[in-house]
Amino acid sequence: MIIRKAPRFRYSEITPRKDDLSRRRFLTAGSLAFGALGAPFAARAGTRLEGIRKSPYSTDEFQTPYKSVTTYNNFYEFGTGKGEPSENARNFRTNPWSVSLEGEVVKPKTLDLDTVMKLAPLEERVYRHRCVEGWSFVIPWVGFPLSALLKQVQPTPKAKYVAFQSFYDPKQMISPREAHIDFPYIEGLRLDEAMHPLAILAVGIYSEILPPQNGAPFRLVIPWKYGYKSIKSIVKVRFVEKQPPTTWNLEWPQAYGFYSNVNPNVDHPTHSQAEEVRLGRTYFGERIKTRMFNGYDEVAGLYKGMDLRKYY
Ligand code: MTE
Repeated sequence: MIIRKAPRFRYSEITPRKDDLSRRRFLTAGSLAFGALGAPFAARAGTRLEGIRKSPYSTDEFQTPYKSVTTYNNFYEFGTGKGEPSENARNFRTNPWSVSLEGEVVKPKTLDLDTVMKLAPLEERVYRHRCVEGWSFVIPWVGFPLSALLKQVQPTPKAKYVAFQSFYDPKQMISPREAHIDFPYIEGLRLDEAMHPLAILAVGIYSEILPPQNGAPFRLVIPWKYGYKSIKSIVKVRFVEKQPPTTWNLEWPQAYGFYSNVNPNVDHPTHSQAEEVRLGRTYFGERIKTRMFNGYDEVAGLYKGMDLRKYY
C-alpha cells in the first residue's frame, strides 16, 4: 500500500467485468450450500452463503465486479503487488480457525469459526470501500455488526479501545523483510467506533464465502475509514485502555494516523485525498470527489469536538 514516491496504481491491473458471469455460474453449480445458522462451516471460498438479509445500510451504487474485488488486493502477508494475494493465498488454510477475545474483559473467551459464523444473522452490506492510495470500490459484503462479536465478552470499565491482530504464519506468508512492514498486521479502533452499527465483521462477498485474498475467514469492514483499517484474517481482539499501535501508523505516522477517517480535506504527504477513482464500471474508472467519512455522515457524532486535521 505504501508507495512513498509513486503512489498511483496501474489501471491495467484492473480486470473489467467480462468473465464474471461464467465464473459465478461455475461456482453455483459446484458449490455446497449451507445455512448460516445451520450446518458446520465449510470454509471454502466460492461456497454460497444462504439466508442473507438485505440491509438498509447498503448503497445502490454500481457494484465493482467480483473479478476486480478478488484480484486487486492489499494483503501484504501474501505479497505487496495488487495481483499477488489472489495468486499466493490460494492454499491459505482458514479452517480450523479461532479468535480470542481478551484484555480488559471480565472473562476472556476463544471462539471457533463455527461459533463466529452463527453469532448473528448474515446481512448483505453494499459499502463504498476507499483505499488511501486513491481508488475505490463498491462491494456487497456479507457479514454482521462487529458489535455482535464484541458483545461475547464483558469489557471492564477500563476498556476504551479495541486492538485487532491478523494471523501470521511465516510458512504460508512472506517475511516482514520482503513485505517492508512488520507482522502480524495490527489495527485498532476506539470502542465506540467499533460498536457503531456500520462497522461489520465480514465473512463473505457477493453472497459467497470470503476468498482468502479478501481476508478469510473474517475481517473488519469500517466503511468510513481508509481501507487499511479493515484488518483481515483476524485471530485476536484485545480490549485495552490506551490507544493501541497500528501497522501503518508505526510505519509512517505522518501519513497514517490512528483515526484514518476518509477526509478530502487532509492530504496524504504524497498526494491529494480530494478525489478518488471509482473502479469497475468503466475500463479506466471514473474520477469522483471524495466525501467526508466516505459519505457515511451518520458517524460524524463519534468525532464531535475533535479537530479532524489533528486526528487524521
Ligand atoms: N489486513 C492485513 N492483515 N494485511 C494487509 O496487508 N491491507 C489493508 C486492509 N487489511 C491489509 C489488511 C489495506 S491497505 C486495504 S486497502 C484493505 O485491506 C484491502 O482490502 P481488499 O483487498 O479486500 O480490497
